[in-house]
Amino acid sequence: MIKFTNVSKTYGDNTHALRNLTLEIKDGEFVFIVGPNGAGKTTLTKLMLHEELPTSGKIEVNGYDVVNIKKRHIPHLRRTVGVVFQDFRLFEKMTVFDNIAFAMHVVGTPKRVIKKKVHTLLKLVELEGKGGSYPYMLSGGEQRRVALARALANNPDTIIADEPTSNSDKNSSEHLMRLLAKVQEHNKTVIVITHDLSAVKRLDKRVITLADGAVISDIPGGDNDEEN
Ligand SMILES: Nc1ncnc2c1ncn2[C@@H]1O[C@H](COP(=O)(O)OP(=O)(O)OP(=O)(O)O)[C@@H](O)[C@H]1O
Ligand SMILES: [Mg+2]
Repeated sequence: MIKFTNVSKTYGDNTHALRNLTLEIKDGEFVFIVGPNGAGKTTLTKLMLHEELPTSGKIEVNGYDVVNIKKRHIPHLRRTVGVVFQDFRLFEKMTVFDNIAFAMHVVGTPKRVIKKKVHTLLKLVELEGKGGSYPYMLSGGEQRRVALARALANNPDTIIADEPTSNSDKNSSEHLMRLLAKVQEHNKTVIVITHDLSAVKRLDKRVITLADGAVISDIPGGDNDEEN
């Protein structure tokens, strides 16, 4: 579960990125977060990962008290959240296989297990046969799918995709949204930050709208599990 309670974040003296925001996202939900530039969307992500601290308020992510978390627990918290960054952040000198395997190596996963898992993930993101390619050999849409596979590698509870479809055409953005919906079916919480209102309309999911650091609307999806 992800829970923000009365969270404010002020950068410097007077940039109020979040203003007394309260928000709850249940396990297994698929949520769109929309809103204009500067509304506070990326700040939400940074707070969840303990990359930034709030000025006030309480933040709970997958059982961790993110504000008061002990330093040594931060890597554990971050392992529960897979992030697909807008600029992918792939390792250019590593193959697709190694990009996806990297996070598993870091935590000491046996080679045999890694091989199997990478294979499964490549299949999930429909990039079978691309394991030996380098990122520069892939289209932007394919690179994005590698970033999604990498984010899923350590089996996180939550996936956050920040602007996953910017600069992509209609087909590739529909493809990625379909994959994200598939990720939700694997019992993961999926948070998609986007300006792509056509994607939001197409998928009947919960939509949280932020403006000026506050939630201005929160509309439940027609297909959220809890409501069925
Ligand atoms: N590190 C920082 N230092 C100072 N101000 C910041 C910092 N990060 C964000 N801000 C400010 O906080 C506000 C919210 O920024 P944020 O990046 O969360 O917006 P956003 O909703 O993600 O916008 P966009 O749609 O453009 O990505 C903006 O006014 C921004 O200028
Ligand atoms: Mg942003």
